[in-house]
Amino acid sequence: MSEHPGLAERLLFQEALRLADQAYAPYSAYRVGAVVVGPSGRSHHGVNVENAASPAGLCAERAALAAMVAFGEREARLVAVAAADGSDCLPCGLCLQALAEFGDPAVVALSGGRLTVRSLGELLTAPFRLGHGP
Ligand code: THU
Repeated sequence: MSEHPGLAERLLFQEALRLADQAYAPYSAYRVGAVVVGPSGRSHHGVNVENAASPAGLCAERAALAAMVAFGEREARLVAVAAADGSDCLPCGLCLQALAEFGDPAVVALSGGRLTVRSLGELLTAPFRLGHGP
């Protein structure tokens, strides 16, 4: 169930959109920015970073998650994702799994041309979990 974005969600989306300009995407020319917010309220930034050897490339969401973890936070509460060209950009399956490691954040992104807020659990209903994980 998609919720209507409030002011905080709209501002975070704008932050992700501005960030997308910093992406390194010389191969696809598809520039993405992601902002992850944890319990501290601080924004952790990520952009996609492509590579000549394409599997070595990184999505913006996982780059932002790495920044969050490096800062010392272990819980994602809110995630905004934006493509510089203004197209729909929900996190890919790999990024949904990566996000699921750190909670059930609200995901703010364009979908069907509208700004939507959906829980991660709605976008990825059955993430993989290791039996002996945290
Ligand atoms: N990409 C992201 O960074 N996040 C997404 O949610 C979707 C795709 C990147 C990966 C690649 O660098 C480019 O967009 C085209 O797929």
